[in-house]
Amino acid sequence: QSSTEIDLSAIEPGQAIKTSFRKQPLFVRNLTPAEIAEADKVPVSSLRDPQTLEQRTKEGKTNWLITLGVCTHLGCVPLGAGEGENRGPFGGYFCPCHGSAYDTAGRIRQGPAPTNLQVPEYEFTSDTVVVVG
Ligand code: FES
Repeated sequence: QSSTEIDLSAIEPGQAIKTSFRKQPLFVRNLTPAEIAEADKVPVSSLRDPQTLEQRTKEGKTNWLITLGVCTHLGCVPLGAGEGENRGPFGGYFCPCHGSAYDTAGRIRQGPAPTNLQVPEYEFTSDTVVVVG
């Protein structure tokens, strides 16, 4: 149905917010250089759902990780987008329902989830505004 406009200007490096898109949770995260480096050093062939951070973000904007906040196992909302929440052993997001752990690119690294957190269609309409959907 409709698209969602998100203002990125208040999201600091290292911070993630939880908003919503078409009634589903949506995570928007401003990755730090260290978190980007961590994602980039993982051999892609070792991943359950092999994708690079670059494939999951926009060119020149690899610090902006935008994913659905829906665990790909059974649909719980992972932790990690709220202040002080447990980001799990791979520093991304952690699903408390059955222990799926996602990395700083939102890729599944441990636990039962079969695939990475889904990246929705979106585009930057300015340096600080994204339109999802
Ligand atoms: Fe997330 Fe099962 S729903 S691990």
